[in-house]
Amino acid sequence: MDTQNAQLETLINELCEKGYAICESFLPTDTIFALADDAKQRYSNGDLTAAKTGNINKTLNQEVRGDATLWLEENDSNTSIRAYFSKMHALKKAINETLFMNLYALETHLAIYPVGSIYQKHLDQFQQTENRRQLSSVLYLNAHWQTADGGELRLYLENKTHLDILPTGGKLVLFLSAKFWHEVLPAKRDRISLTGWFYSR
Ligand code: OGA
Ligand code: MN
Repeated sequence: MDTQNAQLETLINELCEKGYAICESFLPTDTIFALADDAKQRYSNGDLTAAKTGNINKTLNQEVRGDATLWLEENDSNTSIRAYFSKMHALKKAINETLFMNLYALETHLAIYPVGSIYQKHLDQFQQTENRRQLSSVLYLNAHWQTADGGELRLYLENKTHLDILPTGGKLVLFLSAKFWHEVLPAKRDRISLTGWFYSR
């Protein structure tokens, strides 16, 4: 078994056991750096827009969520973005083969949380509409992120406990979209990620 398959297998076993999984280094460091550079470039070009909340009545409320986002296309001209999608599809294939989740589509946006901004506690499935988001993923692009920088993803677990996950560059977090409430805590630096959702049929 090659290292990519071994890595995906570990991730999938953890997902199967707990409903969430964390991989410290999902893509090579140079790819993560290239993705971060590209994200900063698009941000300074003004390509990102302030995120809205809710599905039907979309509203802009920065007290609820303060990130700016940009949906990405799979055929993007940047090779690192194509490398991201290719790895995510390998992950999807492995999940479908072992966990029979029947995932088919993936939608991903680039997200930047400016210093101090948050995303209040929420679920990734919308309340008002039928929604087929099954699995949420977040890949962090933050080089040299320290505990003191904050910006943790707080994942609420059973028994009123929670897990605080630092958004360290290269880390991938997966969790079942319908099951895990979560929030983004304020950070002392701009916080960059690629957030993706797998849909089921
Ligand atoms: C989201 C989200 C978590 C994170 O975009 O829905 O919860 O850690 N993001 O960025
Ligand atoms: Mn979320």
